[in-house]
Amino acid sequence: MIQHDVSLLPYNTFHLQATADSLCEIKSAADLGVLYNEGKLHQPMLILGGGSNIVFTRDYEGLVLLNRVPGRTIIQEDEENVLVELGGGENWHACVQWSVNQGWGGIENMSLIPGTVGAAPVQNIGAYGVELKDVFHSLIAFDMHTGMLRTFHYSDCHFGYRDSLFKNKGKGRYFILQVLLKLNKKPAVHTRYGDIQAELAAMGVSNPGIKEVAEAVIAIRRSKLPDPAELGNCGSFFKNPVVDSALADHLQEEYPELKRFEAGPGRTKLAAGWLIEKAGWKGFRRGAVGVHSRQALVLVNYGGGTGAEIRQLAQDVQQSVLEKFGVQLEMEVNIV
Ligand code: EPU
Repeated sequence: MIQHDVSLLPYNTFHLQATADSLCEIKSAADLGVLYNEGKLHQPMLILGGGSNIVFTRDYEGLVLLNRVPGRTIIQEDEENVLVELGGGENWHACVQWSVNQGWGGIENMSLIPGTVGAAPVQNIGAYGVELKDVFHSLIAFDMHTGMLRTFHYSDCHFGYRDSLFKNKGKGRYFILQVLLKLNKKPAVHTRYGDIQAELAAMGVSNPGIKEVAEAVIAIRRSKLPDPAELGNCGSFFKNPVVDSALADHLQEEYPELKRFEAGPGRTKLAAGWLIEKAGWKGFRRGAVGVHSRQALVLVNYGGGTGAEIRQLAQDVQQSVLEKFGVQLEMEVNIV
C-alpha cells in the first residue's frame, strides 16, 4: 500500500517536479489505523488533497498521505435543510454541482474552486461573498498523534479568513475524513459581490436561482483564473492584506481608486491583486514562471518552472509591494 520514491508531479496543480520518499493513498479511517498500528505515522508527513495550494521547492523526505476518502451521504433532512456528509477525498467542485443539481443552496458561490472536500475547511475556502464556514456543520478527523477519531464542531475549528485550526495549532495532525455541511432547501442567493451582479446582467438573468449563480461564478472564474489543467497555478498566491484603516486612508490620498473593504473597527482589507498590478507585476514573466495577465494575485508556471523560481518571484513581489505601499503580503499557499 505504501509506494516509494514517487513523483509528485501528478499531485500538484503548479505542475512542479519533486519526489516523495513514500506515498500512500488513504480511502478510509481503517487505512490510517493500519499505518498507525505499524508505527508509520511517526515521521514527517504531508497530507495532500488536490495539491492545489502547495509549492514544492524540494523533494519531500517523508510520507505523503493522499486523501482519497469517498462518499456523499444525506445524514438528516427536513423541509428547510439537508445535512450532507462528504468524503474528504471527494472533488470539491463535483460536490458543488451535485448540491446545485439537487436544488440545495449554500455552496454555489464556491463553484469551480480546485481541490478536495478535506482541504476546504483547512483554509476555509471562500469566493464571491461566501466562505466554507457559512455552511459548515462539523468534521470527522483521524488524530495521527493518538490514532483516534475526533469530531470537530464549528467553534473547535477557529475559522478565519483563509484560516483555521488545521493550518495552525493542528497543522499536520488531523487527517480530515468527512466534512458535514448544512445546505438549504429553500436557498437565498448571494449576489452582492459586484462581479456576480454584472455577470448575471450580462447573462440576461433578473431573478437568479442557485443554478444561475453557479453558472455566473463559473463564467467569471473561467474569464479571470487560469485552469490548472492548462497552466500550472495555485489560485490566489497571497491573502488579501488587512491593514490599519489609517494606512488605507493615507494610500487613498495618493490612489483615489484604491480597492478597499471594511474589515472590523479600524481595519481595512485591501485587494492584493490591485496592489500587485499597481506595482507593475501583472503579466510579468521570468523564464518559465510569471504573474498571471488577467489576475495578478495568481502566479503561474508556464511549464518546467521550479518551486524555487516561484518562491523567488513571490518574494520579489512581496518586497516590491512593501516598498511601494508599506503593505506586507502574506502567502496563502504552503511552501514545502
Ligand atoms: N484587482 C485588480 N487587479 C488584479 C486583480 C484584482 O485591480 O490583477 C482588483 C479587482 O478589480 C477587484 C479587486 O481587486 O476590484 C478584487 O479582485 P477579485 O474580485 O478578482 O478577487 P480577489 O480579492 O483578487 C479573492 C479570493 C479569490 C476569490 C475571489 C472572488 C483571496 C486571496 N482570493 O480574490 O480566491 O475567487 O476573491 O471572491 O481572498 C483563491 O483563494 O485561490 C481564490 C481564487
